[in-house]
Amino acid sequence: MKGIILAGGSGTRLRPLTGTLSKQLLPVYDKPMIYYPLSVLMLAGVRDILIISDDRHTEMFHSLLGDGSRIGIHIAYGEQEKPNGIAEALLIGADFIGDDQVALTLGDNMFHGPGFSSLLQESVKNLDGCALFGYPVKDPQRYGVGEVDDSGRLLSIEEKPETPRSNLAVTGLYLYDNDVVDIAENIVPSARGELEITDVNKVYVEQKRARLTQLGRGFAWLDMGTHDALLQAGQYVQLLEQRQGEWIACIEEIALHMGFISAEECRRLGHEMASSAYGSYLLDVAARGMKVAAR
Ligand code: DAU
Repeated sequence: MKGIILAGGSGTRLRPLTGTLSKQLLPVYDKPMIYYPLSVLMLAGVRDILIISDDRHTEMFHSLLGDGSRIGIHIAYGEQEKPNGIAEALLIGADFIGDDQVALTLGDNMFHGPGFSSLLQESVKNLDGCALFGYPVKDPQRYGVGEVDDSGRLLSIEEKPETPRSNLAVTGLYLYDNDVVDIAENIVPSARGELEITDVNKVYVEQKRARLTQLGRGFAWLDMGTHDALLQAGQYVQLLEQRQGEWIACIEEIALHMGFISAEECRRLGHEMASSAYGSYLLDVAARGMKVAAR
């Protein structure tokens, strides 16, 4: 499966923070925002990833993450001229996707909760059509909203409905089979002039090949697109990391955990940042990894 992170948009709701910097490079406590969606793709087992941003920021993403080889993955870069809609990512990424399946995720979404990586890996394994993830919210009018039957099959999906049929927001993580490229090529722009991802998902709903897995109680899904949401996400990460001593979205640790790099490689990456708390955490992770390998 290929992965795409859509990290464009104009970031107007975060001005002046986004005056020069891309939203998805802003700090969320101790790491750049893009680490969070990147870690989701890695936990799903995806190693071939396309990051799509606007042309002002591609170079910055590249200097942060390079070609991904340091963490055992491959990262390519694409550009979206204007925010023409989330589904445009599937057209920009069409050659990159080739004849593979694809996981598309929004660069400002954070997912965190128990059992999430096994849930992701199961969803990839059993993918037939499209797999979406639903999250109960108090204000569904602000999101794509899904209605499911008892078996988790999606019965309807609507974008920002005035009268939502459920309280289940459709989160910004979408798993698709290869048909999605054809589907995206055939949708038309919505009234607001965008290629809506919800219109792509509607095609799978019509074909009865769309599933929505509910992320339950105790799970955190945050979109980090406003000042308050950005601060809350940072505080969430700070609280859990300080209380448990286990870090969220540490991409080097995930690379080690997934077997993409060795403990020795992880130690080297830790050394390069040894004067930061992040670097010393990595050194601890690597030391633990080496002990396990020596057993
Ligand atoms: O966060 C989940 C929601 O994301 C879903 O429930 C909705 O169904 C989906 O349409 C989307 O709604 P938003 O109102 O959050 O979409 P927004 O236009 O804010 O775009 C989400 C992110 O994607 C944002 O970080 C900017 C980026 N983006 C957006 C568009 C339209 C791009 O990079 N390019 C684009 O063309």
